[in-house]
Amino acid sequence: MADSPPASDATPSPGTRVDEIADGIVRISTPVPPDVIPDGFTYNQFLVLDEQPLLYHTGLRRMFPIVREAVAAVIPLESLRWIAFSHWEADECGALNEFLEVAPNAEPVCGVLMRDLSADDVADRPARGLLDGEELTLGKHVVRWLATPHVPHGWECGHLFETTTRTLFCGDLFTQSGCDHPPVTEDDVLAPSEAMRAKFDYFAHGRDTGALLDKLARTEPELLAIMHGPSWRGDGAALLRRLAASLGATTGGQGDSAGDASSSGPGAPSGSPPTP
Ligand SMILES: [Fe+2]
Ligand SMILES: [Fe+2]
Repeated sequence: MADSPPASDATPSPGTRVDEIADGIVRISTPVPPDVIPDGFTYNQFLVLDEQPLLYHTGLRRMFPIVREAVAAVIPLESLRWIAFSHWEADECGALNEFLEVAPNAEPVCGVLMRDLSADDVADRPARGLLDGEELTLGKHVVRWLATPHVPHGWECGHLFETTTRTLFCGDLFTQSGCDHPPVTEDDVLAPSEAMRAKFDYFAHGRDTGALLDKLARTEPELLAIMHGPSWRGDGAALLRRLAASLGATTGGQGDSAGDASSSGPGAPSGSPPTP
């Protein structure tokens, strides 16, 4: 991990794995077993290691002790500079204020819409708002905010692209079930994620879905850092366009091949799906 802050002496919780998946990009993955969420599930966060370390997703507020330990196993918490997330939801930013408390040099960073709608009211410190296409230099790494309203959900939604490793932090796109994944796979992730979408219709049905997925594709990502499931290495542009086709969203309006939005997996606790 060249150019990285020194690791601390902390160790992550058993069951949570920490893997470097690209140069200076660390994946933190916590499994949830099938007796808690049918078929199992994962919550992943990502750390960009640089002069200004960035955490992407905080995890659920109740996961904070686990994620804090994992982050602290890689870098001193006080070195954390930025806390970023895709949209306003508990697994994206539920532990934001807890992290701001233990990382006094950290600032939230998100799209300007998310800053104005939620972050600057709820977060304990003001957020740095990024315009669509605006870049933030972390040192060697550079991240670019790509606003994608309602893709996959949330008006304020967007995704970060790290330009030097061509990593797209794609949040809930390609959400997969299961809790025993390799950190990175080159196997197909579209079919299992579309199976998930057929069970849990977690995509908004927005008018611009195809155009926004194409905007992400034009970054030509080589690594997709997926929030739920393994990260994926390959031709990200082609995969994003296959997703658009599967959504029926290639030419503007979004068709719908997903299943019944009201359905939940067999045995889902209280009928509740996981929270992609
Ligand atoms: Fe979400
Ligand atoms: Fe999520």
